Amino acid sequence: MKDKLQTSITHLECSKCKKTYAHNQLRNLCDCGGPLLARYDLKAAAKTLTREALRSREANMWRYEEVLPSRECVSLGEGMTAVLHAKRMGEALGLRNLYIKDEGLNPTGSFKARGMAAAVSRAKELGAKALATPTAGNAGGALAAYAAQAGIPAVIVMPADTPLANEMECRAFGADVRKLNGLISDCGKYVAENKDKNGWYEVTTLKEPYRIEGKKTMGYELWEQFDGKLPDVIIYPTGGGVGMIGMWKAFEEMEAMGWIGHGRPRMVTVQASGCAPIVDAFEKGEESAPMWQNAATIASGLRVPKALGDFLILQAIRESEGSAVAASDEEILATSKELAAKEGMYAAPEGAATVVAAKKLAAKNWIKPDDRVVLFNTGCGYKYNEAWQKALKNGSK
Ligand SMILES: Cc1ncc(COP(=O)(O)O)c(C=O)c1O
Repeated sequence: MKDKLQTSITHLECSKCKKTYAHNQLRNLCDCGGPLLARYDLKAAAKTLTREALRSREANMWRYEEVLPSRECVSLGEGMTAVLHAKRMGEALGLRNLYIKDEGLNPTGSFKARGMAAAVSRAKELGAKALATPTAGNAGGALAAYAAQAGIPAVIVMPADTPLANEMECRAFGADVRKLNGLISDCGKYVAENKDKNGWYEVTTLKEPYRIEGKKTMGYELWEQFDGKLPDVIIYPTGGGVGMIGMWKAFEEMEAMGWIGHGRPRMVTVQASGCAPIVDAFEKGEESAPMWQNAATIASGLRVPKALGDFLILQAIRESEGSAVAASDEEILATSKELAAKEGMYAAPEGAATVVAAKKLAAKNWIKPDDRVVLFNTGCGYKYNEAWQKALKNGSK
């Protein structure tokens, strides 16, 4: 890994009111409350970020350094995860070109590594003294790991019933772990109310501008892994929606750099039936999603009752002519086993939810047999002993 990266970041821009801010100071939201997005000099970036140059770069997310926000790099080797052709699962679904991008292969076992690598790198560069986040589990583990490497204290606030592995990893990395009786939204409130008096810089989903920058690299990688094209359909398990919004942003940047044209993959959000605010809002034709009441699901990463970037997720789904699908816990658990047995993949429940969505959309012929479909397994099953115990109790196989 290079000591200093070449970034072409120019400023931050509000995703709602378009107000701009300097990028070289720690900031959270826009004054209007909208999430801030990093903007780059893409003309300059395109000069050095070429297919030719990519050939000789390391196989991790920092290979896209021109369109990442920092010169500093705190890394555990995240990114460039495998894309597997899921032939047996595809055969069962009648899909010849079904692929799974296995984000469980990232450091700390989930795609959250990408976002936190970018956020912590930037926070270190801009002088943050302590970092804090609410978490459904995996974001906390990732923050704790990168903060450890950066030598910055981290405070992780999680619901009391978060999977045990997430709590253990945070403690192992030396973070200050606080467990609350409630949901991630309650943990978010706790961080917001306590950050100023404690001097924490908040890295909460979309309240911090750079996690999305790490997550967008999934979109850049797909382009490379599909040989300079994008797939027809992307199915993504959506909680706060950072991966979805990030990939959508990546495609816009790639078009501006002349890598792709106007065409986009159809973006599909999958959520759990017990917490499906985006699916509900999509079906009702709404532009944002109200707080989901009594959120409950085995897929802990999808238990996000209110996403700050709901309007951005819904925009990406609609502009891409995509869709939104709910999967019940029963469907998720049964499909986790089927995926493991057919593909040798021990997925997170959130990842299995994407297979449920593919099944439903293929059955309706919304996905055609020859469409190139990419599912995101966002986490590794080894972190979900509680869910897997339940899955394996339900029936003998
Ligand atoms: C394994 C897993 N998948 C999906 C999600 C949802 O991610 P996002 O906030 O990008 O929608 C999470 C969030 O915690 C997660 O841990």
